Formats: sequence, C-alpha cells, structure tokens
Amino acid sequence: MVEEVLRTKTGIQGLDKALNGGIPQGNIVLVSGGAGTGKSTLCLQFCVNGASLLGEKSLYFSTEQNRKELYKQANSFNWNIEALEQRNLLKIIYFDVTEGDSFIEKMSALIEDFKPKRIVIDSLTTLTDSMLVSGVLDDKGFSMVQIAETVNPIPRTEKIVSKSLLYHLFKKLKLFGVTTLLTTELPEDGKQLSADGVSEFISDGVMLLYYVGVGSADYRSLDVRKMRYTNHDKSTLTYDLSENGINFKESEL
Ligand SMILES: Nc1ncnc2c1ncn2[C@@H]1O[C@H](COP(=O)(O)OP(=O)(O)O)[C@@H](O)[C@H]1O
Ligand SMILES: [Mg+2]
Repeated sequence: MVEEVLRTKTGIQGLDKALNGGIPQGNIVLVSGGAGTGKSTLCLQFCVNGASLLGEKSLYFSTEQNRKELYKQANSFNWNIEALEQRNLLKIIYFDVTEGDSFIEKMSALIEDFKPKRIVIDSLTTLTDSMLVSGVLDDKGFSMVQIAETVNPIPRTEKIVSKSLLYHLFKKLKLFGVTTLLTTELPEDGKQLSADGVSEFISDGVMLLYYVGVGSADYRSLDVRKMRYTNHDKSTLTYDLSENGINFKESEL
C-alpha cells in the first residue's frame, strides 16, 4: 500500500492547491526572493493560518524585525498575533544576531519546550551572514563570541564555514521533523536559488517569489521550484498582497 503523505496546509488557497494539499510534513522549505517580494508576509500568514485555522502551534524566529515591528506588520493585515501568543498557539522570538548567543542551542531548547508544528526562520541569510562575520563554529552549532581569541590553524573560507553552519542547522531541524520555512535573499544574477548557494540543495523545497513593478501596477508571482515527496504545480502562480495578506489570483484557485 502506498503511504499517504501527511501535509502541513499553508492555509493559503491556491498555494495549497499548487502543493497538492500542502507542504509534506517535516519538509524544510526555502522561501526565496528579493526585498519586498512578500517573504515575511507569507511566513507570518503560514503561522497565523496554522494557529487560527488548525490550532497548530507555530514558532517564528525573526532576525530582522523585532516583535513590535512584526506586530505592526501583522496588524496591517488584520492578524491579531498578540491574541494567538496569549493562547499559546504562536511564539515570536526576536533573535539579535549582534548578541553572542548560539542560535542553534536557543532554537533547540525552544522547540523542545514549545513543541511547535510549524517553524519559521526569517531570515536564514541574516543568520548565516552574521555567523560568517564571526567565523566561529563549535560542535553545538554556531557561537558568535570569542572571535579575537580564536586561533584556528586551518584557514576557513566563507563558503566552507557557511556550508558547515547550514549542515548543522538543517541536521538539527531534521531531527525535530517540524515543517519549516526559511527565508533567503534571491540574488539578482539568477544563478542561485538562495543567498548562500547551498541551501537550495539541502532543503526539501524551494518557493521562489518575484516582484515586478510596471508604472503604478505591480506583479507578484511564485514558483514552486522544488518540493520533495510530492507532485506539485510547475507553473508560475500570480498573487496579490492586499489588506488580508497573500491572495492567489482566482483563475488559479
Ligand atoms: N497591509 C498591506 N497591504 C498590502 N500590501 C502590503 C501591506 N503591508 C505590506 N505590504 C506589501 O508587502 C511588502 C513587504 O512584504 P514583506 O513580506 O515584508 O517582504 P520581504 O520579507 O520579502 O522583504 C511591502 O513592500 C508592500 O508592498
Ligand atoms: Mg522580510
């Protein structure tokens, strides 16, 4: 008998349809796009829908916008994320990359404690870039302190450090088996599907977001470029960003 794939619904009509019902449970998926394409909105909507429609707990790590800023963004879409936090269905964690904590340790402790069904890391790019600046990696994950004191006889290129960081993070996330969205900046040159050029290979899925402004009109579109363990729509889907978040065009519903 063929085992049925368990899915995490994004709750966004059109996207779930394109994904054949939702993201296969436990997949680690990149949400890749330029600035302002809607990555944070999509991720927040994924959490809000999971919590409010399905009662699934969501853990949102933000490295760019602090809690207050995320509240503001959610408010502009009429999403009451404060209420979801009070009901213990959503947890928003601002992770300040300039502080010397180990992200992986902090993340793991929170996952064990909160037991989410959905995780977002917004953004993977900021997180890995900040680690590259420090260039320090320990066996527990990555730690950003001790920079000056570290004497490392083996020269590490940024790429090697970046790869190790990503492998650590992905390995840890895989252990928890929680459906995860990671945002990354899509480079303009079109050669890579993520800022680091590595995570698209080790992730289970890649969703590419595009934005084109022509005069006063704007066009937003999404491509599901990769999604392991499921068939999915290969065509480009167009969507709007309006007062209730991301909406795919009716013709695609
Ligand atoms: N309340 C809103 N209604 C409609 N569009 C909005 C609203 N808030 C933000 N946007 C649009 O969403 C864009 C920002 O999306 P965001 O998810 O922050 O992008 P990214 O994370 O990819 O940089 C804004 O540039 C704006 O065009
Ligand atoms: Mg963003």
